[in-house]
Amino acid sequence: MEVVKLEHVSKTFGTVKAVNGLTLTVRQGEIFGFLGTNGAGKTTTIKMLLGFFRPDAGQVSVLGQNPGDPAARRAIGFMPETAYYYPYLNVRELLAFYGGLCGMAKADIRRRSAELIARVGLEEAGGRLLRHYSKGMLQRAGIAQALLHDPDLLILDEPLTGLDPLARIRFRDLILDLRRQGKTIFFSSHDLSESELICDRVAILKQGSLVWCGTLGEVAGDGQQNLERIFLKMLGDAPARAVAGEPVGEERP
Ligand SMILES: Nc1ncnc2c1ncn2[C@@H]1O[C@H](COP(=O)(O)OP(=O)(O)O)[C@@H](O)[C@H]1O
Ligand SMILES: [Mg+2]
Repeated sequence: MEVVKLEHVSKTFGTVKAVNGLTLTVRQGEIFGFLGTNGAGKTTTIKMLLGFFRPDAGQVSVLGQNPGDPAARRAIGFMPETAYYYPYLNVRELLAFYGGLCGMAKADIRRRSAELIARVGLEEAGGRLLRHYSKGMLQRAGIAQALLHDPDLLILDEPLTGLDPLARIRFRDLILDLRRQGKTIFFSSHDLSESELICDRVAILKQGSLVWCGTLGEVAGDGQQNLERIFLKMLGDAPARAVAGEPVGEERP
């Protein structure tokens, strides 16, 4: 089943073509990496999947519904790129608040949030206010929030940003577990090496246009090539020596 479907989708802000004729599908049970450098159009696409932005052209469907449809929304867990949580709550209170918004029963919220707080490694910090959290701790809280109502489709905007190596490993294990449960995971990233470890397929976006979509095995060809270099080559604006794996000196204009 196609969980996410974009057909010739475009979105322009003034003179900026943020997304340009994007066509892609994500199937049930896939871990799909949505890759591209800053400003490539990842967040704009995600906002169209959630129904926050309407595309100027093209068709978007999520779980067979129009984006923003209440039935689709109930089945989606979303973690934004930058979350603005109430600073005077702790993570347990935050999850209780979001669980209430989702209409979850109090007992389910308590059980799920204890489980997820442990899963993202925030047990010790569970009683501390979010305003004292680091960026990485807020990211972990965001992952727990997105998973609280046990969604079928998880949409995560740059979930790896700010995570330390241990948190990245936990994140990876969590995502792989979710796939085993049949969930679909769509996440954006500019970190190819991290995506390489878990993604079934990736899409690479450059200035709003798709430059590659497929499995990572297909991108790497015979497997002899370094994925990061291929990524930089595809993006086309990398200095040649960086692609060749050499450090870039200060004389670069
Ligand atoms: N609300 C907005 N108003 C004007 N321009 C926007 C808006 N959102 C995004 N853009 C522009 O669209 C382009 C794509 O942005 P974005 O989707 O946030 O990229 P990414 O998430 O890949 O870094 C950028 O040039 C950005 O400045
Ligand atoms: Mg973004």
